[in-house]
Amino acid sequence: MFEISQRHFFRYARGIFIGTGSGVVAQYFMDTPIPFSFVEKHPAFVRQFYQHFGNEKPLLAKDFFTLPVDDSEEGLGQCLIVSCMPVTGPFYFEKLLEQFRDALNSGSTIVQMSYMPFIKQIRLFDGLQREGFVIERMSTVFFNIPPASVFVLRKL
Ligand SMILES: C[S@@+](CC[C@H](N)C(=O)[O-])C[C@H]1O[C@@H](n2cnc3c(N)ncnc32)[C@H](O)[C@@H]1O
Repeated sequence: MFEISQRHFFRYARGIFIGTGSGVVAQYFMDTPIPFSFVEKHPAFVRQFYQHFGNEKPLLAKDFFTLPVDDSEEGLGQCLIVSCMPVTGPFYFEKLLEQFRDALNSGSTIVQMSYMPFIKQIRLFDGLQREGFVIERMSTVFFNIPPASVFVLRKL
C-alpha cells in the first residue's frame, strides 16, 4: 500500500487514511512527506490507536460515510485517499459509490485494498468504470492471508 501510494505524494498537499484498524498498514503513513489524517469508526480500534501511537497523529473517530468532500482535514476532496475500507459483498451500497465518485471528481486519487483480486469481482469498481473512471490493479500480495490486492482509482 505504501509503495504504491508514495508514487502519488508529489501530486497532493495531504492524504487521508480510511479504515485504520489496528494500524498495521497505517503506521507506514505516519511520517510521510505529505501529512495524513486517519479515520476509524470502531471505538475499540480508536482506543488501540491512542495506546499505540499517542495523541500526536490526527485520528478522526468518524464514519467514512459522514466525511465531506472538501479540502478540510477530514475532507475527501483533492487529496490522496488510502483506503482499507471493506468495499465488497455486503459492504457495498449506493452511498459508497457516491463518496468514491465525488472524491474522484474533485481530483482525488484513491488507493484501495481488497481481498478480491480482480476488478470485475468488485461491484463498486464496475459501477465506477461504467461512469468512466480508471481503475488499475497495481499489485497482489499472495503471501498475505488471504491474498490482498491493491488498486488505484482515478479520474481520466
Ligand atoms: C479490513 S479492516 C482494515 C485493517 C487495517 N488495515 C489494519 O491494519 O488493521 C477495515 C477497517 O475499516 C473500518 N471501517 C469499516 N467501515 C468503516 C466506516 N464506515 N468508516 C470508518 N472506518 C470503517 C473497520 O472498523 C476496520 O478497522
